[in-house]
Amino acid sequence: MKTQYYSACSLDGFIASKDNSLDWLLQFGEAEGTGYKDFLSEVGAIVMGSTTYQWLLDHHIKAGTTEEKPWLYQQPTWVFSSRKLPTVRDADLRFVSGEVSTVHQQMVDAALGKNIWVAGGGELAGQFFDAGLLDELIIQVASVTLGQGSPLLPRRIAFPPLRLTSAQALGEAFAELHYEVPRQPQASSPA
Ligand SMILES: NC(=O)c1ccc[n+]([C@@H]2O[C@H](COP(=O)([O-])OP(=O)(O)OC[C@H]3O[C@@H](n4cnc5c(N)ncnc54)[C@H](OP(=O)(O)O)[C@@H]3O)[C@@H](O)[C@H]2O)c1
Repeated sequence: MKTQYYSACSLDGFIASKDNSLDWLLQFGEAEGTGYKDFLSEVGAIVMGSTTYQWLLDHHIKAGTTEEKPWLYQQPTWVFSSRKLPTVRDADLRFVSGEVSTVHQQMVDAALGKNIWVAGGGELAGQFFDAGLLDELIIQVASVTLGQGSPLLPRRIAFPPLRLTSAQALGEAFAELHYEVPRQPQASSPA
């Protein structure tokens, strides 16, 4: 069971432009050769921040319009927010706030041995990293730069660095990078 941050970003490290647009990403359609379906089949629980959730509501679900679509995932999905957010019909959504470690344990219990997908954004993924709960990053780096926007992972992770476990070109636009998050050195216990 792994906790994985799976996301796409620009070459300069942003997951959304300043106005929360993903047009730069959606222009490519579905990336060639991505392992997304296999990845998702191994996921037992999903977590996201409220901005990512709101983006899905506005751009995918479109509730109350003639284009309304059902929720995207079968897996239980935790949404972090300090606010009351609209829900989606027939979706297993759990609205939470506060410490990610408490919620992570609930997700582990619900995932029944499968992986946990931290869908974003970067600050939320950073909170899982801070709590020592992030195992892997799977990042599709697109061949665009945005200059500014929502950062991929606003943390300093340098000593020890992440460990690159695979790098694969996906068509002409993407490089998919897998990184293992090193275990934090444990404080030695008193003799
Ligand atoms: N490129 C990609 O593959 C990809 C992937 C994911 C997301 N995105 C996009 O990236 C952008 C994400 O933006 P983001 O990183 O700024 O936001 P985000 O993580 O999606 O949402 C941030 C919000 O989550 C809530 N939150 C986070 N931690 C919390 C905690 N511990 N307790 C309570 N609430 C907490 C807060 O919401 P409240 O203000 O409601 O309290 C906070 O303002 C969106 O536009 C999204 O569509 C892109």
